[in-house]
Amino acid sequence: MIESKKIKNIGILGTGTIGASWATFFASKGLKVKMYDIDKVFLDRGVQKAKENLDALVGYELVEESMVDNLKKNVRSVENIAQMAEDADYIQESTEENYEAKKKVFAELDTLASPKTILVSSSSGLLMSEIQKATKNPKRCLIAHPFNPPHLIPLVELVPGKQTDLQIVNDMKLFFERLGKIPVVLKKETPGHIANRLAAALWREAIDLVVKEVASVEDVDKALYAGPGIRWALMGQHLIYHLGGGEGGYGYFIDHIGKAFGTYWKEMATWHEISDESKKILVEGVEKSMGNRSFGEVARWRDEKIVDLLKVVYD
Ligand SMILES: NC(=O)c1ccc[n+]([C@@H]2O[C@H](COP(=O)([O-])OP(=O)(O)OC[C@H]3O[C@@H](n4cnc5c(N)ncnc54)[C@H](O)[C@@H]3O)[C@@H](O)[C@H]2O)c1
Repeated sequence: MIESKKIKNIGILGTGTIGASWATFFASKGLKVKMYDIDKVFLDRGVQKAKENLDALVGYELVEESMVDNLKKNVRSVENIAQMAEDADYIQESTEENYEAKKKVFAELDTLASPKTILVSSSSGLLMSEIQKATKNPKRCLIAHPFNPPHLIPLVELVPGKQTDLQIVNDMKLFFERLGKIPVVLKKETPGHIANRLAAALWREAIDLVVKEVASVEDVDKALYAGPGIRWALMGQHLIYHLGGGEGGYGYFIDHIGKAFGTYWKEMATWHEISDESKKILVEGVEKSMGNRSFGEVARWRDEKIVDLLKVVYD
């Protein structure tokens, strides 16, 4: 398998929201990027978005202006999956989130790419053990799950399947660290990996609070971003509660405040599906919360503030 230090050519399969942002990320690090999407409209839009994102990185002072034209030249689209795969050292797949689609494209990549190419899925929560069953060379297949937008958010969750070579996973950790990301490696796979399981638990409760009319969409969101969200940019729940326990630390927190949480847990939502009625309430609530701001405006504001935050937290 190719050593991560030698990776120069990246293939991007699927150029929607995540594929285009991954393309920006790899190109911004000086790697050559070939993009392919089954839908020509999405392909053209994805390439354009990746180039626009590179310009935005100049604006954020994360890429030098003198470099950007060359970086943009490294991003190009190709007409079919075979052209994307032919000389790729590493392929990042970002197509549809279901086993049928992922298995189909992994089977294709497995035959089209060199046996040395690393095959990586962006899957938000599927298991690589299932996807890699579709390949003849499963040891080079793993999940690298980003957070949207991957060209800005540092986290990447690396998840091996049962047949993945763990040496490749460790090398991928070094690869992403060298590129400035913050990778975590899961010891075993689980649907939703780490971050989306945490997000799923939180989201269900955020929905339930609105549907049970405890608070509005706007106030539930505010209760996150203006409170716990500020600390979450710095440290995770375990360390936060260790500090919350004062001198007694995490043990004290669990014995004392932890008991009160037991009462909340007993009351909390356990449903597994969002009803149509809940969906209607949520969509109306979020539209109200958006006010007159456009989607693009809010997304741009988010990206600018993420960059400001990253500069403060990670220098
Ligand atoms: N959107 C997010 O916040 C997010 C975050 C992390 C990971 N992901 C994961 O990334 C993947 C892509 O998500 P997205 O939000 O970018 O979806 P998206 O719908 O924006 O893009 C998917 C793209 O894949 C293309 N596609 C579908 N089948 C294809 C095929 N056989 N060959 C080539 N292209 C094909 C589609 O035309 C589309 O352009 C999913 O697995 C998702 O779980 C999404």
